[in-house]
Amino acid sequence: MASEASGPDFSALQRETLAVRAAVARSQYGENSEALFLTSGYVQPSAAAAAARFAGDEDGFTYGRYGNPTVASFEQRLAALEGAPACISTASGMSAILMMCLGLLKAGDHVLCSRSMFGSTIKLIGSDLAKFGVESSFVSQTDVGEWKAAIRPNTKLLFAETPTNPLTEVCDIRALADLAHNAGALLAVDNCFATPALQRPMEHGADIVMHSGTKYLDGQGRVMAGALCASEALVEKTFLPVLKSGGMTLAPFNAWVVLKGLETLDLRLRAQSAQALALAQWLEAHPAVARVFYPGLPSHPQHELALAQQGGLGGAVLSFEVKAADADQARTRAFQVLDALQLLSLSTNLGDTKTLCAHPASTSHGRLTEAQRQAAGVSQGLIRVAVGLEHLNDIQADLDRGLSSL
Ligand SMILES: Cc1ncc(COP(=O)(O)O)c(C=O)c1O
Repeated sequence: MASEASGPDFSALQRETLAVRAAVARSQYGENSEALFLTSGYVQPSAAAAAARFAGDEDGFTYGRYGNPTVASFEQRLAALEGAPACISTASGMSAILMMCLGLLKAGDHVLCSRSMFGSTIKLIGSDLAKFGVESSFVSQTDVGEWKAAIRPNTKLLFAETPTNPLTEVCDIRALADLAHNAGALLAVDNCFATPALQRPMEHGADIVMHSGTKYLDGQGRVMAGALCASEALVEKTFLPVLKSGGMTLAPFNAWVVLKGLETLDLRLRAQSAQALALAQWLEAHPAVARVFYPGLPSHPQHELALAQQGGLGGAVLSFEVKAADADQARTRAFQVLDALQLLSLSTNLGDTKTLCAHPASTSHGRLTEAQRQAAGVSQGLIRVAVGLEHLNDIQADLDRGLSSL
């Protein structure tokens, strides 16, 4: 494979350019679009070269579980967009979190997380890792004092998601990075909602950026993918060995889809954020709506921080609560709004060009206990909308069908 031997100085290029030009590794055919290498194994030039490659003494692909040229292109391009030295990809966002925890933590270590994180993240860290002796605590997303008070001598990792799913709470990445580093720990940030189009956590001091590529990196709801961006040392020495033995490898086809998805990430996030802001403003004025959660609204508690951290944009996801007298009525009413949809998709995914609506309390956060759900602020009347690219009037009309019937 030939690479960009006499190409431009990539370190001098803008992010929009890197999204379409970084990590193009052309084969001898000179294809313009990135090639998809579907192979599980590689023919080695000699037994000695194979030995050197397996030992890590020589560059070269060895086996599909360990690496693939298309997968490597995706990793390099995502690293370029995040401003990260390196990146390693996985089969899904959750397997990226699993790889991070298996690589960094051992029995007796402590991990400190926001209690508003994605439901499966809370389950994985709070329950599954506990079986192997990893301690965890969950604190307020926004109160840095609570994070500080919860740090223990054995705290190895702070992990936050910003904005959070589904309440779009924003944490101060720089403050948490300082806290982690003063305690000799690392800070990891789930950048799934904002993506590098809006927010690059390493610029604010984070050590690891985690992605569910299933969301905006793909952007059209086609494949599952995940990734960790970090230093070369963390990627090569801490995460790659877990990938090699754990096998949570990203499939080449999926890598190719997300690689191409990155090319339109910036445009999509800007357009979808503009739509989300307009929809949030409309919902805030709707008589059937009790509250709207969207970082782009001045009513959002971390509005200023969000705009400063996210390039002035609120992102493409918002949530709102329907007005109701109690939790039972709230759930019935939320279901009524969702069941009245004719155009928008009732789907728990997010990050699609199609607008997706979901009831987090019974789906993405359905595996949590009632106490965990309440701590995460996920009420029965809450509806999450991942705003797509349909015309705003059509999105509003579809939501209004149910809302105006309440
Ligand atoms: C914020 C966040 N992090 C992680 C994940 C997990 O990603 P995946 O579904 O690709 O495993 C999700 C999935 O919805 C998510 O919303």
